[in-house]
Amino acid sequence: MKNLFQEAEHCLKISDPQEKIAYGMEVVSDWNATNLEWDCSDSPRIINSPGHLDKPIIVPPNKLKKRGFGSQQQIASLLHALAHIEITAVNLAWDSICRYPGMPQEYYDDWINTAKDEGEHFLALRQQIKLLGYDYGDFPAHAELWNMAIQTADNLMHRMGIVHRVLEARALDVVPFAVQKFQTIKSGDTAKVLIRIANDEVNHVAAGTRWYRYCCEKEKVDPDKTFFKLIKQYLNSYPRGPFNESSRASAGFSKNEITLLKYYDAEHKQNRQS
Ligand SMILES: [Fe+2]
Ligand SMILES: [Fe+2]
Repeated sequence: MKNLFQEAEHCLKISDPQEKIAYGMEVVSDWNATNLEWDCSDSPRIINSPGHLDKPIIVPPNKLKKRGFGSQQQIASLLHALAHIEITAVNLAWDSICRYPGMPQEYYDDWINTAKDEGEHFLALRQQIKLLGYDYGDFPAHAELWNMAIQTADNLMHRMGIVHRVLEARALDVVPFAVQKFQTIKSGDTAKVLIRIANDEVNHVAAGTRWYRYCCEKEKVDPDKTFFKLIKQYLNSYPRGPFNESSRASAGFSKNEITLLKYYDAEHKQNRQS
């Protein structure tokens, strides 16, 4: 019988995104058909550099050109940035499986479903990029999301709290604006892709919340207080609003957390004005 952790490691190591996603979909089917063993004393599989083709080239975030809606190229560049986040999220999901053996079955269900969604998001965005005459790999990209995944990797609570509840949660706030923008410029198909992404991301952030709280409970720490402590520790500044409060509530943010996010955002704006 094939082993879930071995298969997840294999997915991580595949360089070509199309192949990575195709192989991943087979793993998802095998998991859903209970054809994979997982309840075993597997050691963590640490893959700090997932497979990656020569393109896109990876640059620091400040070296990326400003994106926008001014030209086809700028739009393609914007979709490319999103596609790069999606393929990174595919790697993140497989990494969340093979790096952390010994979790409950529901944990693996969550990240298997996420790997499937993120793969579909990547493919849908790549198609939109191609319709504009470009392809994935044609623009540079940055590796901030993956770097944060590695920085937090030694502690599952930190990984879930920061990577999913801060970085991925940002999509809940900003993707709806991108949807509106694409609707305004009459790119209805791209808007549809982004609406699907926005809906799925709520489930991924909810999975992050679920396992973040699971770790907090195990370590007997207060999840809300710890969340803001971790943000300070890893990012040194709190997320900026406006926040999509209903999506964040659906993704498991407590009322207290949303109130605090808004409070820190207002404080930041006030400090900037004074
Ligand atoms: Fe996604
Ligand atoms: Fe996601």
